[in-house]
Amino acid sequence: MPLIDLRSDTVTQPTAAMREAMMAAELGDDVYAEDPTVNRLEAWLAQELGFEAALFVPTGTMSNLLGLMAHCERGDEYIVGQQAHTYKYEGGGAAVLGSIQPQPIEGEVDGSLDLAKVEAAIKQDDFHFARTRLLALENTMQGKVLPLDYLSAARELTRRHGLSLHLDGARLYNAAVKLQVPAREITQHFDSVSVCLSKGLGAPVGSVLCGSAALIAKARRLRKMVGGGMRQAGVLAAAGLYALQHQVERLAEDHAKAAHLGEALLRLGYDVEPVQTNMVYVQLGARAERIKAFMAERGIVVSAAPRLRLITHLDVGSEGVERVIEAFAAFRDH
Ligand SMILES: Cc1ncc(COP(=O)(O)O)c(C=O)c1O
Repeated sequence: MPLIDLRSDTVTQPTAAMREAMMAAELGDDVYAEDPTVNRLEAWLAQELGFEAALFVPTGTMSNLLGLMAHCERGDEYIVGQQAHTYKYEGGGAAVLGSIQPQPIEGEVDGSLDLAKVEAAIKQDDFHFARTRLLALENTMQGKVLPLDYLSAARELTRRHGLSLHLDGARLYNAAVKLQVPAREITQHFDSVSVCLSKGLGAPVGSVLCGSAALIAKARRLRKMVGGGMRQAGVLAAAGLYALQHQVERLAEDHAKAAHLGEALLRLGYDVEPVQTNMVYVQLGARAERIKAFMAERGIVVSAAPRLRLITHLDVGSEGVERVIEAFAAFRDH
């Protein structure tokens, strides 16, 4: 019985065609900026998303960190959501390594940050205060897509206050596919964007930070400083390029599978949050303690959390979704 791992879209395995692209990659030393495949990936994505330059890095965590550190100096501050990955799940890197103070604010149920709350959090120019420099958004945010008019309002606000605007676009393409727009429609509002290749896109490793030539030059220096300069990294970049060129449209299949799973769980009487992309959130409360072992016995891998997250991806087929639905039916009656 094949395992079905619903913990994250990061668990995907490279496909045979992606492995072939990796095998065939032309390589060089990327610390000297001489890896042709890395250079191709960076140029391709920068162009596709409407930026001057891009930088390939090992992880989304590093990409966000370099973005924040390239925008902010020591003693600066960035405004961010309480539940944002950059703030909550990246080891406090911006504060530890960049001496950048976070100013978290509570997010809204639709995944956005209320722009009135953002504006109220911007500090006056006063030596008592850290200097507010940046607003960081996330899209998708826990599977929710930020509307395009919200992004343009965020752009207008940040411009008015002289702030930069960064996007943690770990799942940028899920948002673009859901909105049925080119990804550039989203990224046009931002000064920098971090895109993960290793989530729903299905590459094994890698993220790309996009921005102005000056910002990316600064990020390249910072990448070296945090130990992120890789050598024949084209073997990884080839997987990323393959993912970007062949595995974007198929994200719609993940969304359809998640929608089907969410509807089925709702019919079974579970408390399910509305599903927009590839994430299904189910409120399990105290029953969460039992779910992990129960599902493991049926070859299904989930994390035990009262607000359980189930993610569909490349390696979860339609039969897999049916097996998950059956297991949840059994769990309900158990
Ligand atoms: C929204 C978001 N941003 C950033 C990251 C960080 O990516 P990585 O695991 O490659 O560091 C993740 C990882 O799951 C994520 O979900």
